[in-house]
Amino acid sequence: APATIGLTGLATMGRNLARNIARHGHAIAVHNRTTERMTAMLEEFGEEGDFTGCESLEELVQAVERPRAIIIMVKAGEATDAVIDELVPLLDEGDIVVDGGNAHFTDTLRRQQTLEEHGLHFVGMGVSGGEEGALNGPSIMVGGSDHAYEQLGPVVESIAAVVDGTPCCAHVGPDGAGHFVKMVHNGIEYADMQLIAESYDLLRSVAGLEPHAIGDVFAQWNEGDLESFLIELTADVLRFDDASGQPFVDVVRDEAEQKGTGRWTVQSALDLGVPITGIAEATFARSLSGHTDQREAARKVFSTSPDEQRVEVDRDTFVDQVRAALYASKVVAYAQGFDQIAKGAEEHGWDIDLGELATIWRGGCIIRAQFLDRIREAYADEPDLTTLLTTPYFADAVKEGVDAWREVVATAAAGGVPVPAFGSSLSYFDGLRRERLPAALIQALRDNFGAHTYRRVDRDGTFHTQWAAEGRPEQEM
Ligand code: 6PG
Repeated sequence: APATIGLTGLATMGRNLARNIARHGHAIAVHNRTTERMTAMLEEFGEEGDFTGCESLEELVQAVERPRAIIIMVKAGEATDAVIDELVPLLDEGDIVVDGGNAHFTDTLRRQQTLEEHGLHFVGMGVSGGEEGALNGPSIMVGGSDHAYEQLGPVVESIAAVVDGTPCCAHVGPDGAGHFVKMVHNGIEYADMQLIAESYDLLRSVAGLEPHAIGDVFAQWNEGDLESFLIELTADVLRFDDASGQPFVDVVRDEAEQKGTGRWTVQSALDLGVPITGIAEATFARSLSGHTDQREAARKVFSTSPDEQRVEVDRDTFVDQVRAALYASKVVAYAQGFDQIAKGAEEHGWDIDLGELATIWRGGCIIRAQFLDRIREAYADEPDLTTLLTTPYFADAVKEGVDAWREVVATAAAGGVPVPAFGSSLSYFDGLRRERLPAALIQALRDNFGAHTYRRVDRDGTFHTQWAAEGRPEQEM
């Protein structure tokens, strides 16, 4: 019998996704550019379900029932385009091509248009959860036509993680919507990790705790409202010792790498004019860590002895303050990320249900957390909310934690510990709640040097002051 679905690209993610699909009773045809990888996979896991091994894309296309759904799981960028170019002439009208990689959403928009011209459906499918998630239940964000989702939906919903009986899979919107929200998911992932890293740094360098003890602190935090996959993982990593006997975290080079989704999130936010400061600082913190030449130069010129910069804190109080700062900054990061998704949806004409998104991020994905249930509730109460920050639950959490948050940022500054994400999140919060911002002065300066005009607090209209003229008369523009 023909397969229900096809998949090409059997690296870790593709292979695990294919196994997950097969294990859920869907007949799947699989292909890989180098055939050995495909045969090796079938040898090892062929018993798990109904697989058809294919040695070429032609064979793959032949093996799948029409209208076909073929998932591409190859490297984002050129590799994806190459597979699409090869696949398109082999397909028939109405077939569905699904890109399950971490594609840039603008590539997805472009590919969707091209395939539409060929009478094909193109689906950009964000898949989160790493290798483990792909195999045992990822979070899946589908962007594509209703028609394509009708066919693809039942298969992908059956393989997704499930929370409270709801699959962590949704038809987010058309064309680029799925990859767009996956991109922002990754941006939030960057912010989450940076906030965790700053917390660890503070607990170690200010509170003087050793990695194992910090791991215990994270394990404890994981029992409360910070409960999440990344906090749990942090506890595990910090309590792990390397074969050399040292804490594992101490044998890893302190240069954080990235494959680009965080950078894309920030680039998109700049285009949309959305201040995602937490995510941006998290991305820049990774870049800074990689500038080893500049770091070395700065260490030589500016280093102080640890004693000179020691700040005294009450350990238990400080641990609690860091937890509060972490929670408040996390609220900001998510508020910013959801803000970006709302603006992106507006810009591209996507009708994205933010509450649904929070719902499908509760399980399967890297940022899965208790917290997302609170976000889901916030959108259920108020689907068009202006910002998550001011919804009752989060507003109360931030109000409760704000003194600790300030204390932590101040202590970090005094102690010379960099906290770009904590600091910028606090500034974002203060920026939003401030009665008047110095933006007024910036407008005045812009009008002075460049006649860029300004608006007044007391009258409507646009004005320019003739700064060089006698008496500096004001003109209405
Ligand atoms: C996920 C992850 C996954 C991958 C990141 C890592 O949702 O499963 O986000 O997509 O681990 O792309 O990104 P960096 O290499 O940029 O840190």
